[in-house]
Amino acid sequence: DSIKVFAPATVANVACGFDIFGFAVDSPGDEIIVRKSNLPGVRIKAIVGDEGRLPKEAERNTAGIAIQTYLKHIESDQGLELILHKKMPLGSGLGSSAASAVAGVFAINELLGRPLKQIDLLPFAMEGERLACGSAHADNVAPSLMGGFVVIRSYNPLDIITINTPAQLFATIVHPEIEVNTKDARHILKNEVSMKNTIIQMGNVAGLIAGLMKPDYDLIGRSMVDVIIEPIRAILIPEFSEVKQAALDAGALGCSISGSGPSMFALSRDQPTALRVGNNMQAAFHSVGIGSELYVSGI
Ligand code: HSE
Repeated sequence: DSIKVFAPATVANVACGFDIFGFAVDSPGDEIIVRKSNLPGVRIKAIVGDEGRLPKEAERNTAGIAIQTYLKHIESDQGLELILHKKMPLGSGLGSSAASAVAGVFAINELLGRPLKQIDLLPFAMEGERLACGSAHADNVAPSLMGGFVVIRSYNPLDIITINTPAQLFATIVHPEIEVNTKDARHILKNEVSMKNTIIQMGNVAGLIAGLMKPDYDLIGRSMVDVIIEPIRAILIPEFSEVKQAALDAGALGCSISGSGPSMFALSRDQPTALRVGNNMQAAFHSVGIGSELYVSGI
């Protein structure tokens, strides 16, 4: 009557696809243990790895609220106890709040004998995102739930597409030891976009998908350009341009901000390059005294 579930970290936006593109990595991620209880309600017994920073009230926690919304939807009053192991940094741009919500809602659905299909769990995980940053974006929760590279073709109605990626494609993620709050990183964005930038961005969105599916590495690289969001958010990341240049110098196809930052990610065609790219990016942060963590994963 208990289950342990892992949900992976994700890179949202993938340069040009603000709120519509995201991919999952192998690690890091979050782990949750969900246990049936005879007492009604959802109780968080422990959170490990968050340095005491996450709320333990179920309705204020992304995993807790996702599970509560799910139980309400299926009209279940099953009592539950949760233990959450945060195995990734908070406020990092790696979809930490999303991974917890996905792990939670996947776990309860399994524990109750799978009343809902996996894809239909998405709206409940999105409630976790709404709680975490005020917007129910799906570009972290969808890839964390489905795996691989995901497109949110539409939010209303929800339309999720999983895209084929080249057999060999590696993500480098460098997480500098600074924090950016997603809510703040969304507030600084402009509500209006020029026609000129819209056209450039649409070209890159189409090019990135075509590049992934053909596959065509050079096209992937050429399309990893964001003229709308990145120029505004770059100011939140010290040494942004230098770190990006360091990635490109080391042979990355492209480099941008992971989700709302401060993590930066790059894509490379093989693992040795992805590692070299990571080392170069870390060195650029290090040159101004900023330590960082490096993750390399196939996608
Ligand atoms: N698309 C979201 C944003 C992802 O960029 O604000 C947040 O991780």
